[in-house]
Amino acid sequence: MDEGVKKRVLRLLTYGLYVLTARDGEEIAAGTVNWLSQASFQPPLVMLGVKRDSKLHELIEKSGMMAVNILAADQKEVAAAFFKPSQVEGDKINGYSFEEAPNSRAPLLIDLPAWFEARVVESVKKGDHTVFVAEVIEVGLRRADAKPLEMWDTGWFYGG
Ligand SMILES: Cc1cc2nc3c(=O)[nH]c(=O)nc-3n(C[C@H](O)[C@H](O)[C@H](O)COP(=O)(O)O)c2cc1C
Repeated sequence: MDEGVKKRVLRLLTYGLYVLTARDGEEIAAGTVNWLSQASFQPPLVMLGVKRDSKLHELIEKSGMMAVNILAADQKEVAAAFFKPSQVEGDKINGYSFEEAPNSRAPLLIDLPAWFEARVVESVKKGDHTVFVAEVIEVGLRRADAKPLEMWDTGWFYGG
């Protein structure tokens, strides 16, 4: 396989961008991710690739839960704020206000248009990212008219 072409081909896959959060006790992690997709209607499953050495990975494994905050098309700067390690100050994380998700208590960013919580039902550890398969257990829609942020439009890449 040609490594250069592999990179270009895999970068043509299309993605959204999401702020993934998790919590175990008083420990909190948050990060912007793109490797996420719905994977079943019934039960409603999602699958996502989470970096093995990340804090997010640790807290998702420990708690068995996560929250996904869906970014709006005009929230590229919010996405950028969650590439760095997460820091909680009062009711803000990386400078953005949050509230606790009902089941996991993971951060829900109140400026973002939609969110869901999911419970891990399977994890596949074959590469440098773990594929978590998780069942959606709660949802919230703050702004029904918002369009989602798409990775291609940001000029960023994660994949290849
Ligand atoms: C464009 C972009 C997309 C990313 N997508 C993912 C992803 O799908 N999965 C993942 O685990 N990390 C992804 N990351 C890295 C996370 O944002 C980063 O690891 C996260 O902030 C968590 O770091 P920490 O828990 O080690 O502090 C991506 C980074 C960038 C720049």
